[in-house]
Amino acid sequence: MYRTHTCGELTIGNANQTITLSGWLQRSRDLGGMTFIDLRDRYGITQLAFNMETNATLCTEARKLGREYVLQVTGVVKERESKNAKITTGDVEIIVTELKVLNASITPPFTIEENTDGGDELRMKYRYLDLRRNAVRKNLELRHRMAIETRNYLDKLQFLEVETPVLIKSTPEGARDFVVPSRMNEGEFYALPQSPQTFKQLLMVGGFDRYYQIVKCFRDEDLRADRQPEFTQIDCEMCFVEQEDILNTFEGLVKHLFKTVKNVDIPTLTRMTFAHAMKYYGNDKPDIRFDMQFKYLKGDGADLTAGKGFKVFDDAECVIAINAIGAATYTRKQLDELTDWVKRPQIGASGLIYARVSADGIKSSVDKFYDVDTLQHWATATTAKDGDLLLILAGSTNKTRKAMSELRLLMGTQLGLRKSDTFAAHWVVDFPMLEWDEETKRYHAMHHPFTSPKPEDIHLLNERAGEARANAYDMVINGVEVGGGSIRIHDAALQSQVFSLLGFTKEQAEYQFGFLMNAFKYGAPPHGGIAFGFDRLCSLFGGSETIRDYIAFPKNNSGRDVMIDAPSLISPEQMKELAIATVLNTK
Ligand code: AMO
Repeated sequence: MYRTHTCGELTIGNANQTITLSGWLQRSRDLGGMTFIDLRDRYGITQLAFNMETNATLCTEARKLGREYVLQVTGVVKERESKNAKITTGDVEIIVTELKVLNASITPPFTIEENTDGGDELRMKYRYLDLRRNAVRKNLELRHRMAIETRNYLDKLQFLEVETPVLIKSTPEGARDFVVPSRMNEGEFYALPQSPQTFKQLLMVGGFDRYYQIVKCFRDEDLRADRQPEFTQIDCEMCFVEQEDILNTFEGLVKHLFKTVKNVDIPTLTRMTFAHAMKYYGNDKPDIRFDMQFKYLKGDGADLTAGKGFKVFDDAECVIAINAIGAATYTRKQLDELTDWVKRPQIGASGLIYARVSADGIKSSVDKFYDVDTLQHWATATTAKDGDLLLILAGSTNKTRKAMSELRLLMGTQLGLRKSDTFAAHWVVDFPMLEWDEETKRYHAMHHPFTSPKPEDIHLLNERAGEARANAYDMVINGVEVGGGSIRIHDAALQSQVFSLLGFTKEQAEYQFGFLMNAFKYGAPPHGGIAFGFDRLCSLFGGSETIRDYIAFPKNNSGRDVMIDAPSLISPEQMKELAIATVLNTK
């Protein structure tokens, strides 16, 4: 028997018992007469004590052991003289009587402690060592708990977990596919699923009624902190439902997760239309932990800027202000920094105007053009009070909204309004069905091609398709899009009309989606669903912005697994067998 207990469970109640532990040597301290070792396993750390006076041989042996050696020890549990209140086993130590080295370890490349000295890349290369660290393990424990609670909730509601294939035909969801060559079908390729979208719809045609799957999805897209090339969805679909049913069912899931995993009661989710989100927050996933909504000094029916000869505002399609409450204390230097920040190409504003509101009146960077009365109107319109700071951007509507959205988030962060342990969840609804792409001069599906238009907007598809709204919704928590879905088209004729709007010829639609349109001819039920980004949900619950921290073996920002060194070259023989033209790679 390797152990009678784990390293995380012995307390004063076990005093005088003879026990056996197995684990890794985290740290050892040689104090001359005594040597102490911290023995670690998944459950905790237990202090081992070796006494030079009473057992010199064992103590000498213990002193030779290095970090991360795997040990088995037997000994007696004793109350410690100096207790450690920080750990559960902190009241006791083991007076070791037998010591066995189960395996040696070379010196690890970084310290396996709460605060490690290892950089990101190094820890990724030795991920199996990083996994030994508490912080990393805790994240994966959270992920496990989230998965269990998801299953508990959905199982109670009669959802069936069904696995769908991984070698499929490409489904257009906006990103590029990862493809896999087929040896048996020379020159042809499978695609890895960007999501199980079409399969879950076919399960509904198959009468499964309620489906879910915690499932890997693959997208060949540019990576960011909240994007991985392979990630996990909680993918769900339901028959005989309207948007309202889906919103209620999955609001329930998220509430259940907050309650069971974090013991947090979140309030009923508010709803915001896409149009409202864009107008007052400048993006479709507003962080509503704080207000700071856009106020239009020009545009949206207002014009509080005209006729004073300020060309920047006069030429602008809109002038948007946000009120940074309490930020009138910002120094000139801070304001210059903000100005430089909004002028960066990623943000793209041409400049930043500000106005400080104080008991002495309002002072702005455009005092030359605007008198006190006008500035006072601005303050009233933006509900700015003494001590507040107005930040103003001007230009074309879309560009200015986008830039202001970024500035709003930055100010939220700077003013401490975006705490990671505060949660604000809401729905964004009524997304447009289509998006016009200037480059390709054609419509793209904003969500995906299977999304149903709102019944009252179907008539728009013929003439003003760009104005048609979809029965599509996203769940947003703290400014992160954690999930999205829609009510689907279940009518073959409407589906084929939408494919044609998206620029598919009849033949192309048939080649790519014939199976689905065919299935719809056999009594497809009305259906709809949603998918949550499981990694994103976990990182939000854990209070981090990086989903990598919640994935056991993640990829880096170039899509590489630096531990196993993938992707990698394959041999010319493999290439030949797969009928891939052998481009001899000299890398
Ligand atoms: P969508 O494309 O919106 O919808 O994806 C659903 C959710 O998956 C998460 N997500 C990602 N997470 C990590 N890395 C990525 N690269 C990544 N891409 C997306 C997001 C997103 O909200 N089939 C539809 C769902 C449906 O209509 O039911 C779909 O996949 O949190």
